[in-house]
Amino acid sequence: MTFAATVLTLYPEMFPGPLGASLAGRALAEGRWGCETVNIRDFATGRHRTVDGSPAGGGAGMVLRADVVAATIDSVGPPDQSGARPVLAMTPRGVPLRQARVRELASGPGVVLLCGRFEGFDERLFEARDVEQVSIGDYVLSGGEIAALLLLDACVRLLPGVMGAAESGDEESFESGLLEYPHYTRPVTWEGRTIPEVLRSGDHAKVAAWRNARAEADTRLRRPDLWERHHDARVGRPLARGDEPEEDR
Ligand code: 6GU
Repeated sequence: MTFAATVLTLYPEMFPGPLGASLAGRALAEGRWGCETVNIRDFATGRHRTVDGSPAGGGAGMVLRADVVAATIDSVGPPDQSGARPVLAMTPRGVPLRQARVRELASGPGVVLLCGRFEGFDERLFEARDVEQVSIGDYVLSGGEIAALLLLDACVRLLPGVMGAAESGDEESFESGLLEYPHYTRPVTWEGRTIPEVLRSGDHAKVAAWRNARAEADTRLRRPDLWERHHDARVGRPLARGDEPEEDR
């Protein structure tokens, strides 16, 4: 069983793009995942093949038409069959993507990714079709394609046989709800800076304790939001309203 990605986009030439190289590229060549594209413009009707319109109520930019995008989604296959893939729309208005959701997606049959350009999608699309809106962070991209590539990279590296078991394990950033501890390698001394003594001690319990302490300290300093979640979870405090985990997101 392989992970099937279908990307709905106005720019199919952007795929697989960077995912054709390195780890993901090898996995793609090995058939561990697939990356098919569907051009949204193929579902535009009329002489001008229009996919967008100006925003109702006025304002800057253009909005993707619900009828054209719905026809594109519908072309991928009927929903609600067992093993159906979720449809995810890449938009800064979406729910922030987290590692827990990435793990769920990677363990399923695949994803259908809808990439917008312009100001966004006609909101009626989300009333009429089962589409999960996903954001990759609090900044604005010129389109959803790079966000889709990012989501696929995060999923593909978790597929069986893609990465060494060591690296895809549960020590990395976010798997524990903390940032990962810092790493060092040879040379032991570089520009007068030496690798922390404990990491060269051979005392595995001490190494583990040091790494955990650094993971906690760095998370507190850099990501107070993650630290608060981690801490609240440990003392059994419920998350603030509006911050409930969506399958732990
Ligand atoms: Cl998922 N798409 C776009 N177009 N912009 C974004 C984003 C997604 N996430 C943050 N900014």
